[in-house]
Amino acid sequence: MSVQRIRSSLRSPLHALVFLTAVLAGAGSAQAQPADAAYAQGKVLFLSAVPACAVCHTLKDANTEGAIGPVLDELKPDAARVAQALRNGLGSMPSYRATLTDAQIAALARYVSKASGGAP
Ligand code: HEC
Repeated sequence: MSVQRIRSSLRSPLHALVFLTAVLAGAGSAQAQPADAAYAQGKVLFLSAVPACAVCHTLKDANTEGAIGPVLDELKPDAARVAQALRNGLGSMPSYRATLTDAQIAALARYVSKASGGAP
């Protein structure tokens, strides 16, 4: 899926909803996934945080192909590293301290670390 497609999918709330519903519908596939609430919330936030991680990052589990930031499947960041990048920002990545709650940051850290193969 291209960045353009993700951008246009997220442009209106209705399209974003349709997009997220499609993503979540695919989540119950045969692929083994941890069924915990933070992981599920993190997956939704990966696509819906403003600006969406999906725009800049490739993560196979989320079907995203953003190319501005590192490929998360290759970086395999642990949860603490994800949380730190979200709180403080890094290079051209913005800080999410003002827009995400601690619980949302923790959910994203859990999802990104697990889905990419990093330490939880
Ligand atoms: C505007 C583009 C952009 C967005 C949006 C963005 N990132 Fe990033 N991200 C980057 C860039 C660029 C880097 C590399 C920064 C550097 O190393 O200088 C990065 C680095 C990272 C890293 C690695 C941190 C490290 O210690 O090396 C993680 C993890 C990460 N991003 C997760 C996320 C998550 C999760 C979101 C959504 C909440 C997100 N990013 C949103 C551009 C973005």
